[in-house]
Amino acid sequence: MIEEKKQIVDNFGRKHTYLRISLTDRCNLRCFYCMPEEGIELMEKENIMSLEEIIKLATKFRDLGVDTIRLTGGEPLVRKNFGYLVEELAKLGVTLKITTNGIMLDKYLDLFQKIGLKKINLSLDTLNKAKSVFITKRDYFDRIMKNLEKALEMDMQVKLNIVLIKGVNDNEINDFIELTRYKNLTVKFIEFMPFKGNKWDWSKGVSEKEILDIVSEKFGNIEELKNPKHSTSNNFKVKGHAGSFAIVSTITNPFCSECNRIRLTADGKMKNCLFANSETDLLTPLRNGEEMDPIIINAIKSKKYSRDGMDVKMDPEHYEKNRSMISIGG
Ligand code: 5AD
Ligand code: SF4
Repeated sequence: MIEEKKQIVDNFGRKHTYLRISLTDRCNLRCFYCMPEEGIELMEKENIMSLEEIIKLATKFRDLGVDTIRLTGGEPLVRKNFGYLVEELAKLGVTLKITTNGIMLDKYLDLFQKIGLKKINLSLDTLNKAKSVFITKRDYFDRIMKNLEKALEMDMQVKLNIVLIKGVNDNEINDFIELTRYKNLTVKFIEFMPFKGNKWDWSKGVSEKEILDIVSEKFGNIEELKNPKHSTSNNFKVKGHAGSFAIVSTITNPFCSECNRIRLTADGKMKNCLFANSETDLLTPLRNGEEMDPIIINAIKSKKYSRDGMDVKMDPEHYEKNRSMISIGG
């Protein structure tokens, strides 16, 4: 009898093939919707996965059917010896992706090209320099824009992540759409989500419907694109534009039914959902030399169907017990 290949399948039959690894809880920006004003208690060095431990766990996940790995943070590019790590991960034969704020991207674009990492999500909430300083509390706008151009010149597949907040950047929706006219990139609008300490209030959020209304009023002809399997966004294009746009409607229209995502925090905890309060420690058993497969396969069984059980509404009793976004990595 052929032994069936071990896979990571939850109680709803969802096969998990996409792993997001947070490499650090540090970041060179301070976006208010991500990092609580009072800061966070940073992880102790000995509690953070070493590069070798990351590679070992990534290999385990690959052997259990993961075919896509996204590197996140904090800001993944501030992790020491990032270049070494990404080269090693590329050897696993999975599709590698990264989410970055773009500040240090110029240092790594050549390497990305060499190892075949093409998919880059860049957090860019505004096209206005002064506003960028207000949102990120740092002044890196020009550098980020230069790196974005460089990435596009090198034919990277770039998506811009834009967390929309009323009164902050909702007046720039159509400026971002305008960017897609000649540039082959995707602008991805993300509904503002609640995490520990980010003072979430949905009255500050902008919904998918509002975004579509604003875009269609100005651009008229919007084409709905076919969403790739497991997509967490709805995808669109203004007819005739080179690029496209997407909306992540986690609040008003969650897309959990086909979820295939697992998260691994920098301190080696497996998180089944962005909003999961419970986590499974993988780093301690790894360090103890325990067999990891059953731990990982069991851990996924506690995954809830949608938003860690917040099926109907976002509940502060629940999300305030979660981590801050800065230490989840999106
Ligand atoms: N709501 C929605 N998206 C967020 N991100 C960070 N914090 C939030 C939030 N509160 C997104 C950013 C970043 C990605 C990792 O997560 O756009 O690019
Ligand atoms: Fe840093 Fe990204 Fe969070 Fe902004 S959204 S603070 S760039 S990790």
